[in-house]
Amino acid sequence: MAPTASIRLGDKDYPLPVMVGTEGEKAVDVRKLRAETGYICYDQGYGNTGSCESAITYLDGDNGILRHRGIPIEQLAHKSDFVETAYLIIYGELPNAEKRKAFGMLLRQHAAIETQMQRIFEGYPTKAPPMAMLSSIVASLAAHYPDLATNNFEKDLASFELAAAITISKVRTIAAMIYRYQKGLPYVFPKQDLPFCDNFLHMMFTEPYKDYVAEPEVARALNMLLLLHADHEQNCSTATVRTVGSSAANLFTAVSAGICALSGPLHGGANSAVLQMLQSIYDEGDDGTRFIAAAKQGSKAGRLMGFGHAVYRNFDPRARIVGEACEDLLNKLGIKDPLLAIAKKLEEAALKDDYFLSRKLYPNVDFYSGIIMRALGIPVSMFTVIFAIGRTPGWIANWREVAANPKGRIYRPRQIYVGPVKRDYVLMADRP
Ligand code: CMC
Repeated sequence: MAPTASIRLGDKDYPLPVMVGTEGEKAVDVRKLRAETGYICYDQGYGNTGSCESAITYLDGDNGILRHRGIPIEQLAHKSDFVETAYLIIYGELPNAEKRKAFGMLLRQHAAIETQMQRIFEGYPTKAPPMAMLSSIVASLAAHYPDLATNNFEKDLASFELAAAITISKVRTIAAMIYRYQKGLPYVFPKQDLPFCDNFLHMMFTEPYKDYVAEPEVARALNMLLLLHADHEQNCSTATVRTVGSSAANLFTAVSAGICALSGPLHGGANSAVLQMLQSIYDEGDDGTRFIAAAKQGSKAGRLMGFGHAVYRNFDPRARIVGEACEDLLNKLGIKDPLLAIAKKLEEAALKDDYFLSRKLYPNVDFYSGIIMRALGIPVSMFTVIFAIGRTPGWIANWREVAANPKGRIYRPRQIYVGPVKRDYVLMADRP
């Protein structure tokens, strides 16, 4: 028999149903609490609030577990690639050969950015923040493909496969074009015959009269980085996508909102913050000791970036994979990066320090991912954009879950009002 819960308010008990997920995750269903009692649940930041039922990703932060559609991230990182994992996340199953080919074909067919859309780029200063450009250009997809973006769940779901492929493929092409636009370089258009990551690197780094051909280990490293970011349960940007999608806003609009949420330094912006932190430690000739001491002062501005996580309280399984891959890649490419040595030293020191241990602060996925991107030749200003390319399948899958849920409601949290109580309007002449 399912367990029950109740809440006692004054001398009255109110029974509440209990929900249990497929991995045993438990929740008390408070949906009727306000209607029955007049009380709401207060949970600033939603740290203890389940906002949806989802079949996409299982995350157990206490035990460092991350699985997409049931498959552990470690297996995907070592056996799959980004495009296949994107398919799994969006459609729920690994594709067979035929489905994988068709999905790849759709991505290839929709990789290019039409001339009219290219003109949007010219409206931006070349120093515009890349994430600001990315979010607005992705939002403009709704204007370029109005038939796929009707803001009607049923109609938008009917063209979902196409809209999803356009989003994944074009986010990558737009990202490469932002890079080239900012450098004042002519755009390089996607090549039909190149795999997803090779194509991205080709569009980024091709020089006049010199096609860029990615080394296999370089394309593999990028594949793995994107794959490790492909989804991460109800993080800030995914919750944003679901919130926006719940109003029946179309996929492109919702993904654009996700990109905005990702741009903050406490979320997707952390990977560039890590590299800036390592660089400043290097420039100051510190070995990290001073930085660690400062990070323990508790100021948000001085935090050890790449450490700590809102849900992992043991270790971030992605961080382990990235850490190993980082060393591996640098060895294969023969790169000796002094920032890697500083990062390793910081990690070693923090993992012995009671401040970090007692607060369960461990390296997160961003701690080493910046060093990999630097080795791939990707500038710091583009790091969060790379994260966005990786996270796109997760946003798409979550938008679809919201759109396809016949019982779904618009996301509309409540609040506890703490402002002034009722008072009268005062004419300006009488105001103090
Ligand atoms: N360096 C130093 N102290 C820290 C850090 C840090 N990186 N992170 C948390 N703390 C301290 C914090 O000051 C607090 O101390 P106290 O208990 O004395 O007040 C305690 O640890 C708990 O912190 P919190 O703010 O309650 O933790 P949170 O769960 O709200 O925040 C976080 C999680 C990721 C925002 C935070 O750890 C952080 O700012 N980390 C650095 C930024 C970063 O690397 N972000 C990337 C996250 S992974 C990418 C993703 O999946 O989005």
